Amino acid sequence: MNFSAPQPSFLFVCLGNICRSPLAEAALRARLEEAGLDARVDSAGTGDWHVGSPPDPRAQAIARDMGRDITAYRGRQVEEEDFRRFTHIFALDHENLADLQRRAPDDATAQVALLLDMVEGMEGEPVADPYFGGDEGFRTTWRQVDRAAQALVARLQS
Ligand code: 4NP
Repeated sequence: MNFSAPQPSFLFVCLGNICRSPLAEAALRARLEEAGLDARVDSAGTGDWHVGSPPDPRAQAIARDMGRDITAYRGRQVEEEDFRRFTHIFALDHENLADLQRRAPDDATAQVALLLDMVEGMEGEPVADPYFGGDEGFRTTWRQVDRAAQALVARLQS
């Protein structure tokens, strides 16, 4: 994956945009700030059930535990323009990836990939979907998206 675009920008995509992708967005924002870097970061869902909704309360809680306030995030559905607006679109799992590949317009310029492909040793793995589990699942999700965020920042710095 090429990170030499003049202005890299990142969109994270899961199913509902209330659990995994908002956490990925929050983790990357945190790691970028820590590194003194600036980039456009957003998240979206392949589905439209949670458009306009805040993140799941359990996602809000783990983000707060990690020092990030995501209460103002609002769900939105991925749209065609995203494939031209962002340089990188990361799917949180394989179903999200297949969905994105199906939706990509012919003139898409974004590179689309599975998020954990960015993490050495985790290539091909999905980020755990914590929606139907308990709080521990959200901690696992945070750890995974934060590993990815660190890897992305490292690539931006290299
Ligand atoms: P997310 O989690 O895709 O990580 O935001 C889910 C959100 C909603 C549902 C499933 C997963 N749902 O079935 O409504």
